Amino acid sequence: MLSQIKSVVEAISPRLVEIRRHIHSHPELSGQEYKTAAYVAGVLSSCGLRVQELVGKTGVVAELPGGEDSRILAIRADMDGLPIAERVDLPFASTQSGIMHACGHDVHTTVGLGVAMVLAQLNLPLPGTTRFLFQPAEETAQGARWMIEDGVMEGVSAVLGLHVYPSVPARAVGIRYGALTAAADDLEIVIVGESGHGGRPHEAIDAIWIASQVVTTLQQAISRTQNPLHPIVLTIGQIQGGRAPNVIADTVRLLGTVRSLHPETRNHLPQWIESVVAGVCQAYGAKYEIHYRRGVPSVLNDPTLTELTARCASEALGNEYLQIIHEPSLGAEDFSLYLEHAPGTMFRLGVGFTDRAINYPLHHPKFEVDESAIVAGVLTMAYTSYRYWQLPDVS
Ligand code: NI
Repeated sequence: MLSQIKSVVEAISPRLVEIRRHIHSHPELSGQEYKTAAYVAGVLSSCGLRVQELVGKTGVVAELPGGEDSRILAIRADMDGLPIAERVDLPFASTQSGIMHACGHDVHTTVGLGVAMVLAQLNLPLPGTTRFLFQPAEETAQGARWMIEDGVMEGVSAVLGLHVYPSVPARAVGIRYGALTAAADDLEIVIVGESGHGGRPHEAIDAIWIASQVVTTLQQAISRTQNPLHPIVLTIGQIQGGRAPNVIADTVRLLGTVRSLHPETRNHLPQWIESVVAGVCQAYGAKYEIHYRRGVPSVLNDPTLTELTARCASEALGNEYLQIIHEPSLGAEDFSLYLEHAPGTMFRLGVGFTDRAINYPLHHPKFEVDESAIVAGVLTMAYTSYRYWQLPDVS
């Protein structure tokens, strides 16, 4: 079967490059993927799949029906671009000013379409149904939630996904057992002091000074009170407060992101942060408010499905193109929300140019993809989704 899959992928590879370039040159922001969704739906319909549009707002779902096996295998791709002005001189560069596919979601969408094309063309009787999820708004961590609210995970027994990675060379695949990405939560702290004359601090409660104590104490307390083997990154990225240089500020708002890998660490963070903030504020007479909003959990790859993907990548691409990734990333990925409904795995698709000294990182205006990655992605994903049906049904 692998050789049949390979020959179909080979045959459609020029078309896949064409698709990827079309999507790349027409990026759309999160939640506004109207044209991309229409284009994706068009390609899927032309393969003869059952297509449903406007799922999860601007998402697309397509199904390739199978036989008697009641399991459903979901394959997920995200479609949104970023508010970044592209600085790469390509014939198919972004035509939308200030918007760019700088996170490779154009490649993810192309690979998803490629797998649909391959499975449809092989015209196999697959035991169960394959469901393709083309989701919007991954960059704002909303799209997966919207899709799930519209029922795309109903009946799903496993879910597969990928993300491009410029530090893995093109044609190779990176596999990670366990946590791939971090949980990412939003933090807002409001410090309320008392305004006063800039020259008479003893008559006021200086919210700016107390806020800086809060920021410093949080950073120091992580290193002294939290298990260093369970990483936490707390970044305050925004501070708002004060009205004039000679007036002591009464209110300061701190906004940040909190990243962690272990669910138990994540669960205790809101209470721990509050205890630090309360301690500092109490010492200096300020009041505070804390709003801790849970974002997406960590992507925790399922061992069986990860093993299957590793085996399939090794067979399809050659063992030298399989990399085991030893460290997780503290980035976030809303693929993790699907994993709250079914086991799954996400792999890293290498897109790095091997003949270049620099491969610019994701979200960089000069981020670029070695397109030979597309074939590797489709081969790995298509073969894994074919072999999935040979796993014992554990549902
Ligand atoms: Ni991304």
